[in-house]
Amino acid sequence: MKINSHFLDLKDNYLFSTVGAKTAAYRAAHPEKDVIRLSIGDVTRPLAPVVIEAMRRALDDLSRTETFKGYGPDRYVYAYEPLLASIRDSYARKGVAVSFGEIFVSDGAKSDCGNLLELFSADNTVLIPDPVYPAYLDANIMAGRRIIFADANEGNGFLPMPDESVRPDLIYLCSPNNPTGAAYSRAQLKAWVDYANRLGAVILYDAAYEYFIEDDLPRSIFEIEGARDCAIEICSYSKTAGFTGVRCGYTVIPDTLERGGVKLNRMWARRQSTKFNGVSYVTQMGAAAVFTEEGERQTRENIAYYKRNAAMIGETLSSLGIWYTGGINSPYVWMKCPRGMDSWSFFDYLLENANVVGTPGSGFGKNGEGFFRLTAFATAENTAEACLRLKTILK
Ligand code: MLT
Repeated sequence: MKINSHFLDLKDNYLFSTVGAKTAAYRAAHPEKDVIRLSIGDVTRPLAPVVIEAMRRALDDLSRTETFKGYGPDRYVYAYEPLLASIRDSYARKGVAVSFGEIFVSDGAKSDCGNLLELFSADNTVLIPDPVYPAYLDANIMAGRRIIFADANEGNGFLPMPDESVRPDLIYLCSPNNPTGAAYSRAQLKAWVDYANRLGAVILYDAAYEYFIEDDLPRSIFEIEGARDCAIEICSYSKTAGFTGVRCGYTVIPDTLERGGVKLNRMWARRQSTKFNGVSYVTQMGAAAVFTEEGERQTRENIAYYKRNAAMIGETLSSLGIWYTGGINSPYVWMKCPRGMDSWSFFDYLLENANVVGTPGSGFGKNGEGFFRLTAFATAENTAEACLRLKTILK
């Protein structure tokens, strides 16, 4: 029996597991310390009241024989039509037309970012920005795929552009970017779409943070002409609506997207109906409330709360003379480690001296070395306290 030996090529732990384990070890050794987590992007605001009400109604449905639900409907791979309609309508507000059959409801963006790879041969070459969300890299290492990187750095505003000298088959893009907060303009995305169409490549576009965009930037790759022929868009309610624990997302695969003479949409429907039994009815009904008029209003209130945290962190870093970017179209602030420290040294320094946990930039790729990511998802009180501690130890 042979195991999948590609797993041996992975680092021992997933980035956020390492951060979590180091934090837990510090807490165990110093139980008296009040540790503030600005590391993994986990939300702290409660679900919007409209979402809670919708979930309660769904629970009532499950409590009565006449309205009880078992498996979700087959027609749209276990997605309920009210949820699909709300997603379709939210796309329509961005000027993008999607049909029910193009939307696949999932348990979140992370799973689809990795699972979608099953549609493509392991012989393909994948292009991954560096730095970026580490799940893309790890999922491709597990599959033994050839990986090339698109360097993101201060020079290109952390927004790498197509390189005509390489020929990837799969291209991951994340905009607004995790971890740097940089977001592509329409012209930049158009260049990626044209490049992918020229090469016959497929873009896996992670739009998990699109609700944080406040500048005039595309919120969906499908706002770009030609994207329906080369892109898959992966979205999530996690950061948009505080669903990190509830779990719900959606992926759009245009009906027009074909490779090898086959519609990727049909392949994914076949894969999902075989390996996935859908998202719970209660969760789907809660998610369907997010893109209603009142849901959007309440959701945007929570996002504004996190943006105020990001501004607080930014002001603190500015007052300390520390370079940073992000925090405008994104919940992440991407800062340079002070005093020439490398990313993990600064992680240890901050944990030990300020009892604040962040995420080392080098965990997102080699170009992240010397940088550090802070999230705006803590409570306002904890963010303010963390900023005070930063000021104390770094002044
Ligand atoms: C992050 O902190 O980068 C995210 O919370 C990770 C995720 O969404 O899985």
